Amino acid sequence: MIGFFTRAARPEDMDAIAALSDEAFGLAFNSRDESRLIRQLHADGDSLLSLVAEADDGSIVGHIEFFRILIDGEPLAAGLGPMSAKPGLQKTGIGSYLVRTGLEELDILGETLVFVLGHTHYYPRFGFDAETARTFTSPWSGPHFMAIRLAEGGPDSGTLTYPRAFG
Ligand SMILES: CC(C)(COP(=O)(O)OP(=O)(O)OC[C@H]1O[C@@H](n2cnc3c(N)ncnc32)[C@H](O)[C@@H]1OP(=O)(O)O)[C@@H](O)C(=O)NCCC(=O)NCCS
Repeated sequence: MIGFFTRAARPEDMDAIAALSDEAFGLAFNSRDESRLIRQLHADGDSLLSLVAEADDGSIVGHIEFFRILIDGEPLAAGLGPMSAKPGLQKTGIGSYLVRTGLEELDILGETLVFVLGHTHYYPRFGFDAETARTFTSPWSGPHFMAIRLAEGGPDSGTLTYPRAFG
């Protein structure tokens, strides 16, 4: 376990975030698409919250992205992803800390719904479930498509529009 703290990502962090994403997703899925996605979300102004985990030596060892999702054309939800933790330091709690911190901040900002397309072994521990997402029409469906309701008041159904970066 290393010492780290979380903070908002800054524009000058982008190259380090992209390198971390390429390392993590490259190792796990042989994919580098996620760093392009992160860069485009930021360039398009569609990033809602971008957090990094900074280690004591100043290096970035974790990153999480949240972006705007429209429900029936209204800015009523957030999406989680991509996220990554540095290979070699994975499974030490960095990812969990970033998810929990991000959800707390979104709650404070007044967001009520967060969607994720991801590992069914990972996201339910934070409160995400497929049942909450099932009533929404989106490009995705099935067990990997999950949502968490942070507070009452958001819509129960509707059509989701993802940012342009998702194609
Ligand atoms: C997924 C990821 C961000 C998790 O971050 P982390 O810091 O390793 O996670 P934590 O230490 O908080 O939690 C560890 C748990 O996550 C699980 N986990 C890690 N990677 C996982 C994966 N690819 N699939 C399913 N579960 C995974 C571990 O098995 C562990 O579960 P346990 O607590 O039941 O033992 C990180 O492993 C990563 O960067 N993976 C490659 C990129 C990726 O898959 N991003 C997410 C896309 S949805």
